[in-house]
Amino acid sequence: MGILADKRVHRVTLIEGDGIGPEVVRAVRRVVDAAGVAVLWDEQIAGGAAFRKGIASGVPAETLQSIRTNRVALKGPLATPVGDGEKSANVTLRKVFETYANVRPVRELAGVETPFSGRGIDLVIVRENVEDLYAGIEHQQTEGVAQCLKLMSRTGCEKVIHYAFALAVAEGRKSVHCATKANIMKLTEGLMKKTFEEIAPQYPGIRAQHIIIDNCAHELVRRPEQFEVIVTSNMNGDIVSDLASGLTGGLGIAPAANVGDGVAIFEAVHGTAPGMAGLDAANPAALLLSAVMMLRHLGELEAADAIDHALQVTLAEGARTADIARGDEIPMSTTDFTSAVIGNLGRRSAQRSREHRPLALPRLVRRPGQPRGATRTIGVDVFVQSDLSPAALGKSIETLIAGASFRLQMISNRGTKVYPHVADLPDLVDHFRCRLVVHDPAFAATDAEILDLVHRIGRGHVWMHIEKLRDYDGTPGFTRAQGEDAER
Ligand code: NAI
Repeated sequence: MGILADKRVHRVTLIEGDGIGPEVVRAVRRVVDAAGVAVLWDEQIAGGAAFRKGIASGVPAETLQSIRTNRVALKGPLATPVGDGEKSANVTLRKVFETYANVRPVRELAGVETPFSGRGIDLVIVRENVEDLYAGIEHQQTEGVAQCLKLMSRTGCEKVIHYAFALAVAEGRKSVHCATKANIMKLTEGLMKKTFEEIAPQYPGIRAQHIIIDNCAHELVRRPEQFEVIVTSNMNGDIVSDLASGLTGGLGIAPAANVGDGVAIFEAVHGTAPGMAGLDAANPAALLLSAVMMLRHLGELEAADAIDHALQVTLAEGARTADIARGDEIPMSTTDFTSAVIGNLGRRSAQRSREHRPLALPRLVRRPGQPRGATRTIGVDVFVQSDLSPAALGKSIETLIAGASFRLQMISNRGTKVYPHVADLPDLVDHFRCRLVVHDPAFAATDAEILDLVHRIGRGHVWMHIEKLRDYDGTPGFTRAQGEDAER
């Protein structure tokens, strides 16, 4: 009996990728096939091979269709092109399949020595993978001031937070930390914290804890063994997941999955390592551990465990590629290391292993937006470019808007109030935010009034951006500038 008895056939899109990609993909394919899982590898191209064919997105239509049909892909690293016009094939895949969760397990492996060996590090970082500053919405608003929009949605937070809890349940883990910068970015990062706190009671067996992201980084280095699952936003996750993989031995052993609605793409964290390509020296363990995650995703729990144990036995008995070999050792080639893992299939490692159950994700109800209460526009922030002093700019704006439905409440520069009544001015740049609010807070501003206001300001100043100040059922949908509350 055992894994060979289970003859469910899985079709998996296989992308060998660039640089060391073909070597590590070949190695992983050998191990998965040797473990007796019936996988029909649907070989497709992306990255360099696609760019060479003139496909600017880096991902041919056939590859997209293959992933759409198979719902599961295993991919080698893809080189990001340096020329203009060509996009990152990785970003294309992430966007097309909306892989909202980037899942990165970080676990101490016997035989891979680090300053943290013996601490029992075994955590997973679940990073939101689509939104946040990485939506790539940037504007050069003046010659000297650029902006990047940090967009976060309740739906985006819900999906990744549910995923983190469901993963904790599937892996028998007891706690989930949500790491945010909600203390500073109260509306964006705060949304993730709030959503986490709303969802947590649905998982009563799991201890849910919020942690400020900078403290999380500190604690990850100080006492990494305290963490089991960390869910966080895109940029925070990008940084702390790299930090965490450094704790246990680095890129050669760091696996990852990109999970979307019904599609999952498994890959190593590392890139193409071009200096190592073709030398039969790359460590296939990272992609092999990604394949273990893939097999669990496919319900092949027994085969996944068999490969995981074989890899651990191999490492523990001293077979190591150059990246993790000790000083006095002769490193193993990719091919020999892979053969050693295959030879160890069926052996059990002494290291503690987790029980894995299939992941049970709740069906999220799609909402076109939030339930709408009484939403009013009570003002507008108009961003202007100016070399005037704050006092001169304030007086000028007040003159220009005389007779309009708004009053100038304050002006800020890079988020700090500079007008009116400010004794100590910060360093100024040519980028001011003029906060204009309706005279009578009982009335909402109309679009016509806002356009009239912007038109008036435009007569005297260059404006480059406007933002409505909206109030949701009495709760302001905007933050106050530094110092705005001081004197009004
Ligand atoms: P990289 O991860 O390719 O290499 C950094 C260094 O890590 C290498 O020089 C090598 O010493 C080591 N390394 C990485 N993987 C290894 C392995 N399996 N075995 C042994 N040592 C390993 O990062 P780099 O140099 O920043 O990026 C190279 C290219 O890869 C770039 O074009 C980049 O855009 C792309 N890339 C692609 C990714 C993907 O497809 N998911 C992820 C990261 C980078």
